[in-house]
Amino acid sequence: MRKPFIAGNWKMNMTVASGTKLIEELKPLVKDANCDVALCVPAILIPAMKKAAEGSNIEIGAENMHWAKSGAFTGEISADMLKDYGVKYVIIGHSERRQYFGETDETVNKRTLAALEAGLTPIVCVGELLEERENGKTEAVLDRQLKVGLNGIEDITKIVIAYEPVWAIGTGKTATDEQAQETIAYIRKKIGELFCPKCAEKIIIQYGGSMNAGNCKGLMAQPDIDGGLIGGASLKTDFATIVNFDK
Ligand code: 13P
Repeated sequence: MRKPFIAGNWKMNMTVASGTKLIEELKPLVKDANCDVALCVPAILIPAMKKAAEGSNIEIGAENMHWAKSGAFTGEISADMLKDYGVKYVIIGHSERRQYFGETDETVNKRTLAALEAGLTPIVCVGELLEERENGKTEAVLDRQLKVGLNGIEDITKIVIAYEPVWAIGTGKTATDEQAQETIAYIRKKIGELFCPKCAEKIIIQYGGSMNAGNCKGLMAQPDIDGGLIGGASLKTDFATIVNFDK
């Protein structure tokens, strides 16, 4: 019932030349995918990557956006600017933005509402720090991130949630299949409580954090895991192996 969704997050990597080369290599490798496929790339690469992906099943997404329509926000990008280039997805509230750029649950909420208003699909990231997991606070952290970050959304099925335990990002230390399944099932249950049980059944929830060509099958076999948000492994053709996890 839920179509799997594998997305890459290039973070601050790649150039026009290296990104175009990778997309050219990926296109034939992912063309028969049974899942939705996207690459979220640095804003300045969007036009060139959109062109490179033309005629393929690879959607190009953004990594962040501002909530205002326009204005004096030096260095920021608006939803309309993304839409100009046919962008469909935008990552919101990645833990690196929370950690290094002062993103809060409140600003995640503003960006998410603005993305939806503009007709974009936000990929909203949530997840606990290592210390929070070790102190048994994972559920409390997720409760807060979901309640505040998703406040006021009319149709929750229009967003994608990425559960990214911060301790698993870029560390090579993936959550086990069971940990990821258990936590994502908890997020789904919480969405049912905060919104509606039927929406909880429909919403796409990805796992992110050191997901790679070797561990993707086990993670994707879990009943509540609908996809992945892939960092490091989306910078190479390994991304295609993840996209083809079911083959
Ligand atoms: P890695 O796959 O490099 O751990 O990054 C995950 C991530 O942060 C995706 O948004």
